Amino acid sequence: MKSLVTGVAGFIGSHLAEKLLALDHEVVGIDSFLDNYPRPFKEKNLSNVLHHRKFSFLHQDLLGLDLQPLLDDISYVFHLAAQPGVRSSWGEEFARYSENNIRATQMLLEAGKGSKLRKFVYASSSSVYGDTDDLPMREEGGTRPVSPYGVTKLAAEHLAYLYWKAFGVPAVSLRFFTVYGPRQRPDMFFHIFMRALHRGEEVPLFDDGEQTRDFTFCSDIVDGILKAAFYPGAGEVFNLGGGSETSLLQAIALVEKISGRKANLKRCDRQSGDVRHTRARLEEARSKLGYSPQIGLEEGLAREWEWITTVAY
Ligand SMILES: NC(=O)c1ccc[n+]([C@@H]2O[C@H](COP(=O)([O-])OP(=O)(O)OC[C@H]3O[C@@H](n4cnc5c(N)ncnc54)[C@H](O)[C@@H]3O)[C@@H](O)[C@H]2O)c1
Repeated sequence: MKSLVTGVAGFIGSHLAEKLLALDHEVVGIDSFLDNYPRPFKEKNLSNVLHHRKFSFLHQDLLGLDLQPLLDDISYVFHLAAQPGVRSSWGEEFARYSENNIRATQMLLEAGKGSKLRKFVYASSSSVYGDTDDLPMREEGGTRPVSPYGVTKLAAEHLAYLYWKAFGVPAVSLRFFTVYGPRQRPDMFFHIFMRALHRGEEVPLFDDGEQTRDFTFCSDIVDGILKAAFYPGAGEVFNLGGGSETSLLQAIALVEKISGRKANLKRCDRQSGDVRHTRARLEEARSKLGYSPQIGLEEGLAREWEWITTVAY
């Protein structure tokens, strides 16, 4: 079985590639080493798979590739490549978001027309829901993103649905809720927080710390992605969350307990594009995909802390 993983050098893509290889898939990975964070992190992410006999790596930008021949013998597309991050998606930067998130997805879906794909899994985001009190967030509920990033993720979800409806491309969209764990992107909160704690530096805390997130450990996300790939349906959307709602202050207290260190927090204003609460309704993913997150927050944070202190720096 041959799979294509886009964004393979990223946080989630690299974990997924490792899991696919462990399942004996042949994996073609594409990544452009976008400069959303330093390339050495991405190269390190790839280090476990790069020399695997069933892995081949294309250092390419999806936007500049002839994608149709690439999909010739591919059974599963896992489309994770994107310009992520909510706060930096305003202003001039939006052009990069629309190109990498919308246009690249449309090109890949176009290439999927008439192919023999078994599944096209698209990595969407909880940011499509926006700032809502209607919790838990339900797949069929309202979507009103509050960041340009969220708008691009929702637009690409609509494209995935369109290409399924119009051309039978077997696409499924998965809305990931704040993913964390080893290799987490350096612009994400736990990474920033743990790095600062490790170095004895001040930690910026945006808003009052009472904002809540449904944090999802990376191996649970990978498990959900695979379950969606092997699910017989298409044209659907599923939430993938961690199954609990925790405030940032509670999570900080857990990391303090794990590390045995006290955080030096610097209060900062709420940032444009941030939402106050996220919580996934998981019933659809549980009942149709058999998804069941396994890693609790304390265990997951301990694994990320170990990575920050022994591998990342
Ligand atoms: N990490 C999270 O909490 C989270 C939450 C919701 C959704 N997502 C989605 O999951 C996916 C993976 O996120 P991540 O956190 O691993 O991000 P990441 O930045 O670590 O990985 C994305 C990778 O895609 C590559 N890429 C971007 N545009 C490309 C292009 N045009 N051609 C080739 N490669 C390209 C980048 O170089 C990067 O390595 C993204 O689609 C993101 O929107 C992530």
